[in-house]
Amino acid sequence: MKNIRNFCIIAHIDHGKSTLADRLLDFTGSVTEREKQNQLLDTMDLERERGITIKSHAVQMEYTYQGEKFILNLIDTPGHVDFSYEVSRSIAACEGALLVVDAAQSIQAQTISNLYLALENDLEIIPVLNKVDLPSANPEEVTDDIVDLLGCKPEDVIPASAKAGIGITEILQAIIERIPPPKGVVDEPLQALVFDSVYNPFRGVETIFRVINGEISKGQKIKFVATGKTYFADEVGTLKLAQHPKPSIQAGDVGYLITGIKDAREVKVGDTITDAINPTKNPIGGFEDVKPMVFAGIYPVETEEFEELRSSMEKLQLNDASLVFAPESSAALGFGFRCGFLGMLHMEIIQERLEREFGMTVITTVPNVSYHAFTRKNPETAVIVNNPSDLPDPSTLDHVEEPYIKATIITKSDFVGNIMSLCIDKRGTITNQTYLTTDRVELSFDMPLAEIVFDFYDRLKTVSKGYASFDYSPIGMRVSKLVRVDILLNSQPVDALSALIHADNAAIIGKKMCEKLRELIPRQQFDIPVQAAIGAKIISRETIKALRKDVTAKCYGGDISRKRKLLEKQKKGKKRMRQVGNVQIPQEAFMAVLKLN
Ligand code: GTP
Repeated sequence: MKNIRNFCIIAHIDHGKSTLADRLLDFTGSVTEREKQNQLLDTMDLERERGITIKSHAVQMEYTYQGEKFILNLIDTPGHVDFSYEVSRSIAACEGALLVVDAAQSIQAQTISNLYLALENDLEIIPVLNKVDLPSANPEEVTDDIVDLLGCKPEDVIPASAKAGIGITEILQAIIERIPPPKGVVDEPLQALVFDSVYNPFRGVETIFRVINGEISKGQKIKFVATGKTYFADEVGTLKLAQHPKPSIQAGDVGYLITGIKDAREVKVGDTITDAINPTKNPIGGFEDVKPMVFAGIYPVETEEFEELRSSMEKLQLNDASLVFAPESSAALGFGFRCGFLGMLHMEIIQERLEREFGMTVITTVPNVSYHAFTRKNPETAVIVNNPSDLPDPSTLDHVEEPYIKATIITKSDFVGNIMSLCIDKRGTITNQTYLTTDRVELSFDMPLAEIVFDFYDRLKTVSKGYASFDYSPIGMRVSKLVRVDILLNSQPVDALSALIHADNAAIIGKKMCEKLRELIPRQQFDIPVQAAIGAKIISRETIKALRKDVTAKCYGGDISRKRKLLEKQKKGKKRMRQVGNVQIPQEAFMAVLKLN
């Protein structure tokens, strides 16, 4: 055990995490020429995706240092805030972390949020100043920034270039010398932390774990503490680019486990694996059931594809346990599902997988966060509102609570004013402002999560000309004044277009929604009034003027193939339309409320 090191690489996006991981694998000879070839040559999607998955979860390297052989387990951390719980469990499986900072970009929001997670878990931090080969690199200044942030010595910071192969030996040496070896005891009852899982359609769910105490052996009867389920360990092993089956994995080491589990929901990140007969008395702390943060309706474009959509979602859930869904119906869209996602990126991934892997064409309704509504009749029990239609009648409401986050933004001082106005516009309150250097500022805000769902990233990018990095973490529920804004087309309410909006913004957002819908909904042979309403009160109105748009008119009657192309295009465009009453509504319209300006 004294020759094992478990570490992860933490970095802001694009600072070079993957490039450095590849370089370390290369340098330690962990990737054979054949494996490299395979990676390049495998054209089958599935194979390639598996290659990437294994690589990106945990990979074992061997390195001989001063005549002694060391095992280095590199544990990957997902790079997006949607998956922050997974990040925290991966970090909990390590004793040390390489903190990679781009020598041109310096410290950014994710650098800091990841660093805090690592410090909470008492990891040894090895600062790496990456991309020193860049002409725009500012090594002295950025080293100073790192020293200030960590309170370390300048000589602790390793100058490197993952791309050019500079500093790699120094990094490996630091991993061995500075990161402490794991501390487990092999003779104790098994205690292994699940920090990831991979779905394999042929072999079932592969659980990736770190053994804290004891050992896990092939054939052993094991138990997952949180789910209470027992299994036989059909296979255990270590992960290089390929899997290497082993008779057992001992305290301190990292490996994979195959038990024949077919449903990803049975393997929960953060769970403890123990021996079924001689279980540990101390499950590993920090386990949480991940909760979806963002909800949206997903409906088939063709109503008769509902059952097909259900079966596709069930299959998706087998390999993505964080997806939750329940049937719902909408007067406008018919039968579909209310789905819960970890965040907006997760939602996009699911939507894309439904299309790519299952050939489904779906309509997604405007996403919302999960609210807690309290009625006067029952002020102690929260009504969970995951769908605008779940909001109890306003006249019966005592109060509503909404999820809040702590947002961290790092930017240049020039943009502080712009960003503050944006955050205040998004109902944020500033809680802290720190000058990291003379022209770089860290801002902290408390803000409703719902505002992040609504076009926050795009606007942040615009007001900061791209010079702002952003990260957030949930801080609980707070009281909010919420109303449901309904949309009526042709005087008919379209429930799938309703949105939950803060009362102070409802009028302006209702107006903008009407304007946006007027743009997005194609003109038809009759006038279509578009109205926004709160309860019975109409707050805004626009009209989509009657006019049949003849797209082929542009072709001057001449080129027939061109004409056909246009018609094809129009047909394709139609695929994502839903007929509601006598109005055709395109997919974009259901998301319109996210793109208001
Ligand atoms: P995500 O996986 O998207 O979070 O990014 P990452 O942090 O893994 O960054 P990645 O390794 O993909 O590198 C981002 C970009 O920086 C790529 O275009 C790399 O080629 C480049 N890059 C990484 N390391 C270096 C370096 O040392 N020098 C230079 N010049 N470019 C580098």
